[in-house]
Amino acid sequence: RLARRQSGRGRSWWWSDKFNRYGDIYKAPTALVVMNCTDVELSQFSSKNSPQMHISVSQSSKVHLTQLTTTAPWDSPNTDGVHIDRSQDVRVTRSTMGTGGECVSIGPGSRFVTVDGIVCGPGRAVSVGSLGRKGATESVEYIDVKNVQFINTSSGATIKTWQGGKGYARSISFTDINFTNVDRPVVINQFYADPYHVPNMGAVAVSNITYTNLKGTSRYRTAVEFYCSESGSCTNTHVNSVAITFPYGRAEALCQNAQGDTSGYVYPKIPCLR
Ligand SMILES: *[C@@H]1O[C@H](CO)[C@@H](O)[C@H](O)[C@H]1NC(C)=O
Ligand SMILES: *[C@@H]1O[C@H](CO)[C@@H](O)[C@H](O)[C@H]1NC(C)=O
Ligand SMILES: *[C@@H]1O[C@H](CO)[C@@H](O)[C@H](O)[C@H]1NC(C)=O
Ligand SMILES: *[C@@H]1O[C@H](CO)[C@@H](O)[C@H](O)[C@H]1NC(C)=O
Repeated sequence: RLARRQSGRGRSWWWSDKFNRYGDIYKAPTALVVMNCTDVELSQFSSKNSPQMHISVSQSSKVHLTQLTTTAPWDSPNTDGVHIDRSQDVRVTRSTMGTGGECVSIGPGSRFVTVDGIVCGPGRAVSVGSLGRKGATESVEYIDVKNVQFINTSSGATIKTWQGGKGYARSISFTDINFTNVDRPVVINQFYADPYHVPNMGAVAVSNITYTNLKGTSRYRTAVEFYCSESGSCTNTHVNSVAITFPYGRAEALCQNAQGDTSGYVYPKIPCLR
């Protein structure tokens, strides 16, 4: 258990010229790394102003992180609260995350991950991805995100993949989520960070994604974005009971090439789903 005043002294890294945002050149250190571990329980851990991510879990299984507190300013780059990759049976529960990166990012090779009881903001999102950068084959499955409160974040329930990637993101659920003043509450984007859209490049297959009981407010008019590739690789999207409003007018959903269905009251209406 670390005292909150032990800062990670991230400020000297965040805006340095040497720091590459995608980590290809110089990589700022992560405050706490769980690597190659089995049966880990970490609770009541606080991390403030980490140089890069606060906590990463990689090549590990049976990891439970609970009652975490991460803090960093909204503009500190890539200071993800928890990043998970190449791991399975990971749970992140009952935590408060304010950060300049993702509150929780669920990267390549993650399976059976539960995120339950998170307050996220400021920060970016709880996101799956990004997957498939530079044509890579990367997959994620059985992700359960529930009881999350997003406050003033730039995204919310997010799945993002790069065009031309292979692999899949499947069997992912977002349940009991609320949004307060979130820029982009619900996003599937199969063209993540691609400067332009090249036709017929294929995509990481996104399927069996379920949204249940999502509510709150969007900062912009577009509250739901399903921005999928024309390759038909966004399938079995299920949206049940959603009410996300735009305080200054009618909310809208952008729906491109997604296939699936809705049930219960769904606002905004999502045009390309049944
Ligand atoms: C992970 O553990 C395995 C087996 O103990 C070992 O061979 C491998 O080098 C370790 N990998 C890392 C990145 O530490
Ligand atoms: C948002 O969710 C949290 C817990 O998930 C709950 O305590 C809170 O009352 C909810 N707020 C709204 C506005 O629904
Ligand atoms: C959220 O942002 C609004 C302005 O957009 C601000 O007034 C409010 O204090 C912020 N709330 C939190 C919890 O940061
Ligand atoms: C769809 O995803 C849910 C979890 O959200 C899982 O329980 C179910 O087995 C998946 N269905 C298929 C057909 O893979």
